[in-house]
Amino acid sequence: MNGTLSEAAALVSRMTVEEQALLLSGDGWWRTHGIERLGLPAITCSDGPHGLRKLEGLFGNSVPATCFPTAPALAATWNTGLIREVGAALGREAQAADVQLLLGPGINIKRSPLGGRNFEYFSEDPVLSGRMAAAYIDGVQGEGVGTSLKHFAVNSQETLRMATSSDIDERTLREVYLQAFEIAVQHSQPWTVMSAYNPVNGVYASEHRQLLTDILRDEWGFNGFVVSDWGGINDRVEAVAAGTNLEMPGSGDYNRNRIIAAVREGRLPKETLARSVTEVVAVVLEASAARKSDATFDAEAHHALARRVGGESIVLLKNDDGVLPLRAGQKVALIGDFAKAPRYQGAGSSQVNPTRVTNTYYELTTLLGAENLVHAAGCADEGDTNDTLIEDAVGQAASAHVAIVLAGLPDSYESEGFDRRSIDMPPGHVRLIEAIAKAQPNIVVVLLNGSAVSMPWIDGVKGVVEGWLGGEAGGGALADVLTGRVNPSGRLSETFPVGIEQTPAFPAFPSHAGNALYGEGLFVGYRHYDMRNIEPLFPFGFGLSYTKFEYCGIDCSSDAFDADAGGSVRIQVKVRNVGALAGQEVVQLYVHEQAPAHPGPVNELRAFDKIMLAPGEEKTLFFTLDQRDFAHYDPQAHAWSVNPGAFDVRVGGSSRELPLEATLEVRARPLPRKLTRQSLVQDFSAIPAVYEEFARALGFAELVEPESAAASANMTREQVIAARKARVATRAFVNEMPINKVPAFSKGSLSEARLDEILRTASA
Ligand code: BGC
Repeated sequence: MNGTLSEAAALVSRMTVEEQALLLSGDGWWRTHGIERLGLPAITCSDGPHGLRKLEGLFGNSVPATCFPTAPALAATWNTGLIREVGAALGREAQAADVQLLLGPGINIKRSPLGGRNFEYFSEDPVLSGRMAAAYIDGVQGEGVGTSLKHFAVNSQETLRMATSSDIDERTLREVYLQAFEIAVQHSQPWTVMSAYNPVNGVYASEHRQLLTDILRDEWGFNGFVVSDWGGINDRVEAVAAGTNLEMPGSGDYNRNRIIAAVREGRLPKETLARSVTEVVAVVLEASAARKSDATFDAEAHHALARRVGGESIVLLKNDDGVLPLRAGQKVALIGDFAKAPRYQGAGSSQVNPTRVTNTYYELTTLLGAENLVHAAGCADEGDTNDTLIEDAVGQAASAHVAIVLAGLPDSYESEGFDRRSIDMPPGHVRLIEAIAKAQPNIVVVLLNGSAVSMPWIDGVKGVVEGWLGGEAGGGALADVLTGRVNPSGRLSETFPVGIEQTPAFPAFPSHAGNALYGEGLFVGYRHYDMRNIEPLFPFGFGLSYTKFEYCGIDCSSDAFDADAGGSVRIQVKVRNVGALAGQEVVQLYVHEQAPAHPGPVNELRAFDKIMLAPGEEKTLFFTLDQRDFAHYDPQAHAWSVNPGAFDVRVGGSSRELPLEATLEVRARPLPRKLTRQSLVQDFSAIPAVYEEFARALGFAELVEPESAAASANMTREQVIAARKARVATRAFVNEMPINKVPAFSKGSLSEARLDEILRTASA
């Protein structure tokens, strides 16, 4: 992008202010403006994220495109190579439709399972989200099509999304909500980032200079442009100054005139405008150069890819008595409306017009033979049911060897634009499952849903399969897993709670109050369940296989690690397939700090890998950890910092099953504290003369004078103990006093001028 930046700057220098301002607002819903006189073309953007949604206006049918599995499903593959392939396929489809920017991926953190748009986001964990996003971006951009990493930042609630400030402390912001963006930006440089609708700590994301300029650009090195979410601009001039380049959709001359006026009146420096436009033009030039005018895509091949990805995303949650996979010759009753009319994507701006849709009924018939399959709907659209439908379904289930019930969430239960009211499935689905379970002990429930659901019926069923919103080929993917053509290797990308009252942001989510206080702080997703020792229904990272894996050994390249030396430590892990079938395992590595100085999560995911193992095969995997993997964000120093001490590296197949553990002694120097008038007296303990001066001025000279043995010789034992206690209390009082209080407390014996002098000398 750097070469293009200088070319863009040269072009922008030949533009009038009017032309520059024109380029900062869209031409309608999906295009940028071009400038004919300078030969600058326009580019087109379309949603994203799990398929291309090229539209002319706001409504209507978009061009047919492959509908890939939605984000939670993609993340549940834990397979970055596969996600890169999906990205590349999306890039090819964009090229074929003459689209230069794909509006995705979405990587907001799932703060609550009630998030209406959770089906568009990867995970509750920033490392999984960030790595998935990076792979997706690499894939799309490798085809010469840009991406838009969204929604920056802290856009985890749909309720009043344009008007609710996400109020969050700095450490949580950095460690949980920004980290996924940081990973994706630093690893893969998306061509654009989309600023969110919501304010963050009271400042609109599109006007948030600290987020858009200080952090995104200066700290992380982002060099593309920032586009507003559609209708996300509040004050256009503020937004340009803060770092939002392109306003979408276009506002005609409305905001353009405001930008021009601000430049004329000196409220917006013309250099700021020129820089903002240059960043847009650089991407336009890059995207135009990468345009492939004769591009086509192979819809069959992409459908097959969607099926393969879907198969890897499916999570086998329960499989008592090995009820799955289905066996040859078994008579199967397939129950549920979703068996023929599957729910495979969510609603809103991500809704794709699929090239074709397959359903589980059709695909299972193909694999098992029509004679082995019967079907009953059991319920109607939207999950309603009645006695007749239930009786029919029960009759079919009772006469079969095994019943597979497809259930989950109907369309009206989750969508962009609102949050879910409950994590429960429709009562009709629950009633259907319970009725079938009474008639057929071999019952498997297959779930189609975009976010976690409660499962009050779980003890009555033998099998549970999480099928997500699995895209247009989801029916085939499910058939593959149910019949054992594919050994399930998906692992949960989010925790499934028993009930809503177990969840981290309960009952605060969603907020209707104009401010959403992120009061649970760092303890989102598994960080919450682990810290409070709550047993969820299914933990983050969990998933079964038709084979079994054994974790057999862990080794670190060294027992100690110097975090300040800039190096890394290598962890070697051995995993074996001890079952009878080939299968893939997701090996997850978490870091646990033994004695954190500030309370932090118990375990945090730092690395993962997915490997294929033949029966009996053992493989060795290597992970590399560096300073950041042991760091927390220090809000006082506004920097990442490592606490020296012991850290355990824990490895296993889910966040709650980590059989391998190795301990590392991590060495690090504490961050130097910036000394200010708000600093505490104890912050000067490294300068004994100054510390003593404060103690004496405050009237507590005894803190810095040696205890007199003669004095205590005349005291009773009780008096000695009382004196010691007093000394401890006095020391705390003095140590924790901000130094700006010392002049008044010392009645001026330590003057303001002396305080300034101390600060000057100490900071020199
Ligand atoms: C959504 C974005 C989307 C945009 C364009 C907005 O309402 O929040 O994710 O990319 O519309 O459709």
